[in-house]
Parts: sequence; C-alpha cells; structure tokens
Amino acid sequence: MKKGRVFSGARPTGRQHLGNYLGAIKNYVALQENYDCVYCVVDLHALTTLADTEHLRTWTYEMVLDWLAAGIDPECGTIVFVQSHVPQVTELHTILSMVTPLGKLTRLPTFKEKVRQQPDNVNYGLVGYPVLMAADITLYKADVVPVGVDQASHLEFTREIVRTFNHHFGPVLVEPQAKYTEVPKVLGIDGINKMSKSLNNHVELASEPEELYARVRMMVTDPQRQRRTDPGRPEVCNVFSLHNVFTPQETVGQIEADCRTAGIGCVECKKMLAENLVVHLAPFRERRSQLATDPDYVWDVLRDGAERAKTIARQVIAEVQTAVGLP
Ligand code: TRP
Repeated sequence: MKKGRVFSGARPTGRQHLGNYLGAIKNYVALQENYDCVYCVVDLHALTTLADTEHLRTWTYEMVLDWLAAGIDPECGTIVFVQSHVPQVTELHTILSMVTPLGKLTRLPTFKEKVRQQPDNVNYGLVGYPVLMAADITLYKADVVPVGVDQASHLEFTREIVRTFNHHFGPVLVEPQAKYTEVPKVLGIDGINKMSKSLNNHVELASEPEELYARVRMMVTDPQRQRRTDPGRPEVCNVFSLHNVFTPQETVGQIEADCRTAGIGCVECKKMLAENLVVHLAPFRERRSQLATDPDYVWDVLRDGAERAKTIARQVIAEVQTAVGLP
C-alpha cells in the first residue's frame, strides 16, 4: 500500500546534468517505492520564457529519455506525461485564477526575478506561472511535492490557494506537502555558479567517457591552491564535493587527507573523480542507448502517461466544475 500521491514537474531542458540528477531525478526515482508518482514535463510553463520554444520537442525527448534511463519506471505504475497533453490543467488554471489576488502574484520573489531577467517580455503567463503550477498539483490531488527550496514560495502559494478554494467551494482540493530535496550543493565546472545548462558549466549524465574526462579536467578547484605543493581545502573544492557523492566513502577520507597535505595534486584528484563518474554512470549510459534504439519508445511512454493522467484529471475537474457551480 502506497503512502499517497507524489507530483512533480520540470521544464523541458534537454539532456540532464549531474545537478539535475542529484537535485531532482535521484529523488524522483527513490519516491516510486512508497508513493504513486506522477512526473510531468511542464512545456506550457516553458513558454513563459519564449526564447527556447524551437527546442521544446527535442528537449522533452532527451529529458524523458534520461529520466527513464535513470530509473523512473512507468512499468511500476509511475505516470510520466507532458503537461499540454492533458488540457484540463488550463481549465483548472482559469478557475483557480478567480480566487487568486493579483497582488500576491506580483509580490512573489520568483516573479520579480523574472521581471529583472526579461524586462522586455513581462507577459501575462509569467504572472500566472504559480497559478498554473498550483493547477498541475491540485489536478492530481497530490499529497506530496518534491521540489528544490527555490520553489518554496510557489508551494506555499499553492497551499494558500487550495485553502481559499476549499473555503469558498467546499473541501474538493488537496493541500499538498512540500518535500524539499536535500541536495549537496552542486556547482558547475566554473566552481562558482550552480550547475546549469544555460551557463554551459554542466556535466551531462549521458556524456561519453572522453567527454566526462574533459569536463572534469576543466573544473575549477580551490583557488588558493595554485602550486602542486600548496595544501588544499577540500571544504571549498567542488571536485571534492563531487567525490563525496560518487566516490566510495573510505577513498573520500583518503583524498581529503591527501589534499590537505598536498599529498595528491588536483590533476590526479580530478582523474580519480572522472574514473568514478565513468563507472557510476555506465549502467545509465547503457540503458539510455538501449532505450534509444526504438525512437518511438519515449513518445509511447508519454502517450500512455497522458491517458492515465487524464483519467485522474477528468474526475477531478468534474468535481471542481460541480463545486464552483458551473452549469
Ligand atoms: N516551477 C517549477 C520549476 O521551475 C516547475 C513546475 C511546474 C513544478 N509545475 C510544477 C514543480 C508542479 C512541482 C510541481 O522548477
């Protein structure tokens, strides 16, 4: 017996990187054991930042292929689907917008940030972004939503809108719990910014070994360690933080000690990390290329996911329509 329903969404960003894996995918996979999971590619949300739309199709394909290769498993009941394939979400979005005070949306820190990022494209969809996200979650009556802490204000917003809706129209929607993923901070190869595709400081899960070696070699380590003989500070080194995740714990202790005494240099330390990454990701790469031999597989999974998602969505939207009194 499962503990309830999990829902999470991610914008289609193409091939996933180590940051995506540690920050979201790993957790998505683990939750399948105890929850009924629904994972959604939020292509409508992606439209709010217009620049990327010509890639939506390929980026959806590549992202979902990575998800499946990493262990998200539709065969064990998990629903994986594309947001726009279940149009009921747009109806729920409209209905929820009627109980949403505009000021609440324009005051959100995430909205203000977007206004700073794209001052020439402050579209209506951007204001409604959290309402659409609330519709995603409530359309499936999700109990638990695994997200990064950057989504905390959106989750709190969803909870408030559910309370307001239920207060006006009766107890129809489910107030979701946020489940914030505890993530080791994964910086990009620049050693400064969070790993991200848009900054091109990322390491893709699907990389071939040569590519992994090349990207790891480029990683910035402790900036104070300039000569081979300088002692290093593992606590500020991004390569070390990745060792913590991908290297067996005994070896990590040894690397830490050797770094502090300049017993090993960064070149050698990076080589070890790259080797471990290659080994760690080998089953993923293998499964990915196996799944990719059938180019329809991902789309078949998404079509089936949309059908199963719709079964839930139709039911909930009917309850909502009745509750608000639509004739
Ligand atoms: N806003 C989320 C992000 O930018 C993506 C998202 C859309 C989402 N709908 C969701 C996350 C529903 C969790 C649940 O990362």
